[in-house]
Amino acid sequence: MTAAVEAHLLRPIRIGGLELPNRIAMSPMTRGRTPGGSPNALNATYYSQRASAGLVFAESTAVSAQGVGFTNTPGIFTGDHAAGWKGVTDAVHARGGKMVLQLWHSGRNSHSSLLPDGAIPIGPSAVPVEGRVWTHLGRLPIEVPRAIGLAEIPGLIEEHRQAAILAMQAGFDAVEIHAGNAYLIDQFLRDSSNRRTDRYGGSPLNRMRFLLEVVDAVADVWGTDRVGVRISPTNPSIFGIVDSDPEGLFFRVAEELDAKKIAFLDVVEGATAGTPDPSPFDFRELRSRFSGVYIANNNYTFETGNQAIAEGHADMVAFGRPYIANPDLVERFASSAPLTPLREETLHLPGEEGYTDYPFLGSSTAVAV
Ligand SMILES: Cc1cc2nc3c(=O)[nH]c(=O)nc-3n(C[C@H](O)[C@H](O)[C@H](O)COP(=O)(O)O)c2cc1C
Repeated sequence: MTAAVEAHLLRPIRIGGLELPNRIAMSPMTRGRTPGGSPNALNATYYSQRASAGLVFAESTAVSAQGVGFTNTPGIFTGDHAAGWKGVTDAVHARGGKMVLQLWHSGRNSHSSLLPDGAIPIGPSAVPVEGRVWTHLGRLPIEVPRAIGLAEIPGLIEEHRQAAILAMQAGFDAVEIHAGNAYLIDQFLRDSSNRRTDRYGGSPLNRMRFLLEVVDAVADVWGTDRVGVRISPTNPSIFGIVDSDPEGLFFRVAEELDAKKIAFLDVVEGATAGTPDPSPFDFRELRSRFSGVYIANNNYTFETGNQAIAEGHADMVAFGRPYIANPDLVERFASSAPLTPLREETLHLPGEEGYTDYPFLGSSTAVAV
């Protein structure tokens, strides 16, 4: 780190009613280690190993059976799911951590083999999609979605509300609405995937109506100070989602979310690993439109994260891949210790390998919790 930039990431921060010891968040990451959808003891070990993060974000968690979009992912739509998650949040709290649940509906980025009764995935419009989805049968091409009827939309919003209630029963400290990475809410936001002619399609304000109604429903349960939103304005992800005017759309999204006074905006800045270069986008301008806590993400290091806070761009930084391989990332950053490299081939294996077996500082193996 250059002498000029302090370790801002290690300073405390307040988000809504939460007092956090540092500004380092563990970014939400799907790991595919929750067969049956109810989080288990291994998931509790994994998350509690990472409890020294200022905020631990849980992976994408389906708000309904139709919202599942990846094999062996957790849900938050039954009592069993909530009970499983309670085991995880208890373990994180026991180590002094705070945990946020990411509410997720995959929309069209799913597969009939993952859905109840072989249902076809749903989306704002029946637009063909490029891409493949992880299923129990391997990576399969995405099907053309069924367009969501206008009369179905209140039910989808209600699913988010019910999931928010279960998230509270499960002991989370806050919730994040996943409006990025080409999933359902993102599909409503973009003009490439949303060709609707009703009040949920057309103008940017119409396309963000679904997001804003979900925010209202979730905030009814949690209060706005415990609700955040994740967006990825230019991330084409693996699902080729684009918009004709990302700045026009997302600057307005930031303003509307600011008006609702949600606690935080979690922004994936640019393209994540393996995807082509995104279109130019002024993330500093986006940030200026939102007065709550801004969490920056994507390819940050300790140095660039401190820099982003020093410059007033970010309040907190979310780290993804570094957190998979370094459960004690905070302690490593604090002591300038080297980081353990990620073993990509173990990302989505079942079991402990590549999940709970990454070493802590001063130990060649993971510390048992
Ligand atoms: C294995 C893996 C799973 C991911 N799953 C999710 C997810 O469930 N929800 C989400 O919003 N982002 C997900 N992401 C994206 C990360 O949260 C993050 O945006 C991305 O890794 C960039 O941050 P980094 O450069 O610090 O890794 C995932 C990334 C990885 C590597």
